Amino acid sequence: MEMTVKRGSALKQRGACVILGAFEGKRPGKELLELDQALDGALTRAWQQQGFTGAAQQVLLLHAPATLAAERVLLVGLGKAREANLEGLRLAAASAVRQLQERRISSCAVALAECVVPRSSVAERFAAVAEGMLLADYRFDLYRTEEIDKLPPTLARAVLLVTQGDDQIAAATAIEKAQHLLRGVCFARDLVNEPGNVKSPQHLAERARQMADEVGLACTILDKPALEKEKMGALLGVAQGSEREPRLIVLEHRGGKKGEAPVALVGKGVVFDAGGISLKPAEKMDEMKMDMAGGAAVLGTLFAAALLDLPLNLVGVVPAVENLPSGTAIRPGDILTTLSGTTVEVLNTDAEGRLILADALTYVRRFEPRTVIDLATLTGACIIALGHHAAAVLGSDERLVQKLLKAGERSGEKLWQLPLWADYSKQIKSEVADIKNIGGRAAGTITAAAFLQHFTRDLSWAHLDIAGTAWADSTRPCYPKGGTGVGVRLLIEYLKSVSK
Ligand code: BES
Ligand code: ZN
Ligand code: ZN
Repeated sequence: MEMTVKRGSALKQRGACVILGAFEGKRPGKELLELDQALDGALTRAWQQQGFTGAAQQVLLLHAPATLAAERVLLVGLGKAREANLEGLRLAAASAVRQLQERRISSCAVALAECVVPRSSVAERFAAVAEGMLLADYRFDLYRTEEIDKLPPTLARAVLLVTQGDDQIAAATAIEKAQHLLRGVCFARDLVNEPGNVKSPQHLAERARQMADEVGLACTILDKPALEKEKMGALLGVAQGSEREPRLIVLEHRGGKKGEAPVALVGKGVVFDAGGISLKPAEKMDEMKMDMAGGAAVLGTLFAAALLDLPLNLVGVVPAVENLPSGTAIRPGDILTTLSGTTVEVLNTDAEGRLILADALTYVRRFEPRTVIDLATLTGACIIALGHHAAAVLGSDERLVQKLLKAGERSGEKLWQLPLWADYSKQIKSEVADIKNIGGRAAGTITAAAFLQHFTRDLSWAHLDIAGTAWADSTRPCYPKGGTGVGVRLLIEYLKSVSK
């Protein structure tokens, strides 16, 4: 999409469609009143007759009369004025794009970013509108060869309007940054949506390397012999059921001072999780191609961080494996020796994420990170606890958790904290090894985090369980059906806050 900034009034825009916002229950603002006059009172009638109230994400498409330069006007509800926030603006912009898709309209002028949002800057409002539009404009059509013209079209052009001349530069910069950020998000979505037959660990590593080369990130890939040499017994154990060999992907962004401790991001990269010998049921097993969404978020974040030139050092580590049942797969009851030396009794081969993360979290210590954040589609229990609206955050560093919660609110990628009291680690004690990889039905998300904590003890560490948010069952304004790319916007928001 070509996205530009222009100074001018919404009423004077030519083109297919102009998009305006309206707060709920409020009398129309100055711009809407002028428009209403130009439309011969059509707006007031629509307001009264068609039940358009300005409620959040409500849309109303009107054909413009000859007196207006544009062909159509799209009104989008912004909800109650006193509750206005940046996420509301994102959702409004995304809802407007969804409407354009339905009507097969491929260009527009947008006058949303000038809507009043308390305590927000021009740059933040323009970024929010651009983000909402770009989030909604994504589609994954790589494997469609037929009837491609029947898919909702993507937007060709969008002009974002400013009314004040001196806002123009701030708006343009904000839009450019949003575009960089969204390249990271869409990179992550593309990887998640890629089917399992194509997406081997090797494929994931190649995609990471290609991206790294494009933006100048340092990239190291460890193949199976290298992982054996390192003695990553847990990662190798999970991988041994599949013919497709594992990889450990390591990317580095060196935007900070030389020698400055990096922030480390670690993402679960299970390219397909059949459960192994503890096989999953058939229903919805196809969705388990998304079990590398944590890894995708890490790769997408490094991509965006490089494009945005964030002034800090960053390292991303993605253990990539496939979890399949076979004659060579690990069995329930097997004991693995992790890179850290800790032994693990594998009681359920479907709890594989924590095993590969154990080795990746140990590996990342050699970078002497100041902070470690891991992301993983780790537990079904997280979906039971929080549904699809928030990811769980747990950690050993309360200040880090608080910063992440704040970044979640600001970015719109919501988090909710679960406790990580010492009581829970009793559930993962083993009688035959140091620990076991499942802790019973109670508090599944927490005992999984307690398992990871075993490998991050003295580090400043937080864990994000994105099992409920990494994949959308149906299309929502900001998320298409499929991979959401969740984590990228959250992490970039967090990284911006610590690199100031
Ligand atoms: N990848 C799954 C978790 C998952 C489930 C993610 C549904 C997204 C949607 C993970 O590897 C898994 O299977 N976890 C088990 C752990 C259990 C055996 C302790 C689970 O949650 O059932
Ligand atoms: Zn599993
Ligand atoms: Zn899994």
